[in-house]
Amino acid sequence: MTRAIGAAQLAELLSDWRSAPGAGYRTLADRVRLLAIDGRLPAGSRLPGERELADRLGASRNTIAAALDELRAAGYVKTVRGSGSVIGIPGGTIQSPGSTDGMLDFATASSPAVPGFQAAAERALLRLPSALGGSGYEFVGIPALREALAARYTARGVPTSPSQLLITSGAQPAIALVARTLLSRGDRAIVETPGYPHAYEALRAAGARLLPIAVDSDTGWNLDETEQLLRRAAPSLAYVMPDFHNPTGRSMTEAERRRLVRAAEDAGTLLLVDETTGELDIDRGPMVPPAAFASRRSSVVTIGSASKTMWGGLRVGWIRAGEEHIASFAAARPAGDLGTAVFDQLVVTELLAEFDQVLEHRRREHGAARDALRARLAERLPQWHVPEIAGGLSAWVRFDAPVSSQLAIGARSRSLRIAAGPWFGLDGAFERFLRIPFSSGPEASVRAVDILASVWAEVADAPRTMDPPLAAVV
Ligand SMILES: Cc1ncc(COP(=O)(O)O)c(C=O)c1O
Repeated sequence: MTRAIGAAQLAELLSDWRSAPGAGYRTLADRVRLLAIDGRLPAGSRLPGERELADRLGASRNTIAAALDELRAAGYVKTVRGSGSVIGIPGGTIQSPGSTDGMLDFATASSPAVPGFQAAAERALLRLPSALGGSGYEFVGIPALREALAARYTARGVPTSPSQLLITSGAQPAIALVARTLLSRGDRAIVETPGYPHAYEALRAAGARLLPIAVDSDTGWNLDETEQLLRRAAPSLAYVMPDFHNPTGRSMTEAERRRLVRAAEDAGTLLLVDETTGELDIDRGPMVPPAAFASRRSSVVTIGSASKTMWGGLRVGWIRAGEEHIASFAAARPAGDLGTAVFDQLVVTELLAEFDQVLEHRRREHGAARDALRARLAERLPQWHVPEIAGGLSAWVRFDAPVSSQLAIGARSRSLRIAAGPWFGLDGAFERFLRIPFSSGPEASVRAVDILASVWAEVADAPRTMDPPLAAVV
């Protein structure tokens, strides 16, 4: 499928590409290649014409032509007579992030299955025969899982009945379902920046115009600005991750949660609270009582998932909301999917019965990996700023040069797949940041830092050319 990318849109994705070191055409080619590899420029996207690109990027036609030549030679661009230049992927396929092709995969932050997983799956298998007469998938969720989840919310101080829960096939489909049920084209939606990029995509796909609020890895949320934005723009929805925010790892204080709920209510804005990483505590201490978000208020919808605590291979997530909202989500669901696998739900139900042990395992595993990552960063890259990390799955590190995309490109050729900072923002920001997940364990984290340190040595000290050296391309 061919989708045209406008020159303005491409310029936005490329942001400050000229500030990277090296020949202009090569830098431009590298940046387009990175966008193709990480999916921000999907295969099949049709690029604007050379002249239009040159005008928009403020580069010469020669630079653009040389960059396209290089991309063509590497298989990232195909030029079809009559229909222009189209993004391609060499070999015809995109590596899936989780693939075991010898690459260290730090583009996704996901952990291996918890130790009790196999035993839980075997117990679930024993309960399967009674379900075999049915379709094998469940539209709102099997009663046993909804009851177990409702009991867990209630135990956390959030009184919940099974009828307030809808089981989905992961948190991502849950975000997409809420977005397309509650939003109309042109509606405004607040998102955190940096933030979770696939939530941006789901909200945009539902027609939303995104309004950013900043989250800082040292100071967290700016509630004054958030309140002002809510008041001024009265958005339809605000998507937030108040616990172990992805990628900064920050958590809101209880006072901040209460302020946010109040401000959202006053503005008539629905809060979509993503708790996918919410229980990945390492040493933050007792969970902040989620009371502010708890409520039977219809203004708060919460999303959860088994992906990060149990295993991502279980495609099970859920939505907690008022019963009327649950009814509208259920009515809208079939357009996207018809239900969640019963077997997966049985496994989650089994693991919920021993959830405290599951979380304790994650705490130890992630704690060891975080400590190893911090120590190696301090040793190899002492000039990088590494914030406090009390939980979650990643470190959002900062450096003083806008070279995140260059780092991601260099790392790739040394078998480390990692997402550049701009992937977590809107409009190409965050070239001075990198998300380093520690979900693959201590050893992998140390290896990744070693690779990043060797790439850093090359990109950080290279002279930065503001003007592409035309002599090199004519
Ligand atoms: C904040 C956040 N929400 C949602 C998801 C998607 O989770 P799932 O695998 O349950 O679809 C992720 C996955 O990385 C995430 O980090």
